[in-house]
Amino acid sequence: MALTFDDGPGKFTDELLTILKQKNVQATFYVLGKNVVGNEDTMQKIHADGHEIGSHSWDHTSFLKLSASGIRSQIEKTDLAIKNTTGVTPTSFRPPYGAFNASVTKNANKSIIMWSVDSFDWKNRNVEKNISTTMKQVHDGAIILYHDIHKPSVDTIAPLIDRIRAEGYEFLTVRDLYAKYYNGNSLLPEQVCYSMKRC
Ligand code: NI
Repeated sequence: MALTFDDGPGKFTDELLTILKQKNVQATFYVLGKNVVGNEDTMQKIHADGHEIGSHSWDHTSFLKLSASGIRSQIEKTDLAIKNTTGVTPTSFRPPYGAFNASVTKNANKSIIMWSVDSFDWKNRNVEKNISTTMKQVHDGAIILYHDIHKPSVDTIAPLIDRIRAEGYEFLTVRDLYAKYYNGNSLLPEQVCYSMKRC
């Protein structure tokens, strides 16, 4: 499975990184360009710890309302912020609200990474609720959605990792999970993935 974290980096991201390191789990972070500003040290730490970094747009605007040039501008500005802090340009994009169409896919020019397990952590704001919501949905090749901007979400991750591991699953970044499922291949631009079985 792949654990993914949206909308950061934020004030709880460093704490999350410590937990992931203790548990020896590599995750994928879909960051907002505007949150990279002021969180440069956290961005470098995410990268140095071996996590994957994807784009989640500059400011979480719905891409359905944007023109082609508006889409490209959001993508380019965010790419630059990520590149300037980590040295790496993201190859994957998670559209804000999961909202995309053919123009978004084409103009973002990255793989589009959705999710197959929705924790509803933004709504639950409760560790036990997050765990039960997530455990009901877990499956082989899952992409699990969390948000590292909520404290209860971060508090959920250590016990959640233990619960999921107890069922025999392991955690990889989206990129590595894809490579494991698909003979070492890489995700391609414009490819849309919900899970490894819907990719
Ligand atoms: Ni988001």
